[in-house]
Amino acid sequence: MKRVEDRERLPFRIPVEPSGASAGAADRLPPRPGQFVGVVVSGSVRAGDRVRIQPLGKESRVASLHGDEGELAQASAGQRVTLTLDHALVLPEGALISTTEAPASVADQFEARIVWSGPESLFPGRRYPARIGLQRADLTVTDIKYRMHPDTQEHIAASQLKAGDVAVCNISLDRAVAFDPYEENPATGSFAVLDQDTQEPLGGGQLHFALRRAQNIHVQHVDINKAARAGQKTQNPCVVWFTGLSGSGKSTVANRVEQRLYDMGHHTYLLDGDNVRHGLNRDLGFTEADRVENIRRVGEVAKLMVDSGLIVLTAFISPFQAERRMARDLLTDDEFLEVFVEVPLDVAEQRDPKGLYKKARRGELKNFTGIDSPYEPPESPELVINTAILTPEQAAEEVIQALQARGRLNVPT
Ligand code: ADX
Repeated sequence: MKRVEDRERLPFRIPVEPSGASAGAADRLPPRPGQFVGVVVSGSVRAGDRVRIQPLGKESRVASLHGDEGELAQASAGQRVTLTLDHALVLPEGALISTTEAPASVADQFEARIVWSGPESLFPGRRYPARIGLQRADLTVTDIKYRMHPDTQEHIAASQLKAGDVAVCNISLDRAVAFDPYEENPATGSFAVLDQDTQEPLGGGQLHFALRRAQNIHVQHVDINKAARAGQKTQNPCVVWFTGLSGSGKSTVANRVEQRLYDMGHHTYLLDGDNVRHGLNRDLGFTEADRVENIRRVGEVAKLMVDSGLIVLTAFISPFQAERRMARDLLTDDEFLEVFVEVPLDVAEQRDPKGLYKKARRGELKNFTGIDSPYEPPESPELVINTAILTPEQAAEEVIQALQARGRLNVPT
């Protein structure tokens, strides 16, 4: 962080604190519409100055400034103030107010430097909560350009980041945020990558620049939407997400369920690991990084299929919580039904329908789930079926009943 004198020479920036944040003397009165509290992180501002509010892209004028001691003519870096604007704007959390003469930029894709310190590796494609100033967004590393050798600074190719790694990456956020390149303003060019559960920092980063590619891609409006497509099929689209060890019976049960749904007149599609890995995901293997990407793509495809009105069944080991959560988060609550196909490892290993467990035990197959690659069981799946006890028909019946209980098989109203 630059010294205060340096920060004062930078253009004016103040990130807006969420209303209800701990009140200091500067905000004894609750803020009114158009009134915001925050710490000036760079530059200075005077009553009457014109400001730009990012990422909204709105302009306004500072009507007045108040500090601990009452009304102020000017506020500078380091000071916590209440700022009243001419307009009664409603601002998103963490919005950045900046001078109109040199406003902050807005973007959702960047090149960035990341210093990783998480106990688990960072994988491209995995989503992490992040904080950019006081703004919140979900962050995904889309590409690790290179990692730096700690001594020589040499560029090294990497498919994941381990604790202590420093890397230059492309990142993507799920929303546009206000920022400055770190080189221009460290206060508004830094971010933190957080743990999904604890919200503790797993890494820190510096924004280099916005990627142009993002600026020309807009969301295209389509007239026929999910409800219309689903209505035409008279069904409620959703995803039944089977997860479990290799040999647990995911594909077998998913097949039976699809047959039952087909017989009931539903329009379905079954995405199965072995099949998808022959086509869409033929470029992926079984390293942790590749499995993350495998499931990320399957989640996106399943979402598109739900959008097209289908009842989708997916049968992938999908060993990691994070990617199953990602797939879930792409849909609404009642559109995602996670089915944990549970069998003890020794039962799956005895079945060994493809002889892969034997191969893995002989050391001829690396990264095999349950042997030398982890499986994280779901914490709260909608349904658990134990195929060591149930026949495939009974298991399929349980899934059908779960869909019925959630109203997914009713004719949409
Ligand atoms: S996932 O872990 O990325 O979800 P996915 O379900 O697509 O895996 O593929 C698993 C299938 O690939 C298994 O049913 C098995 O037939 C085959 N396979 C080949 N190598 C492995 C491996 N190392 N670990 C697990 N499954 C493997």
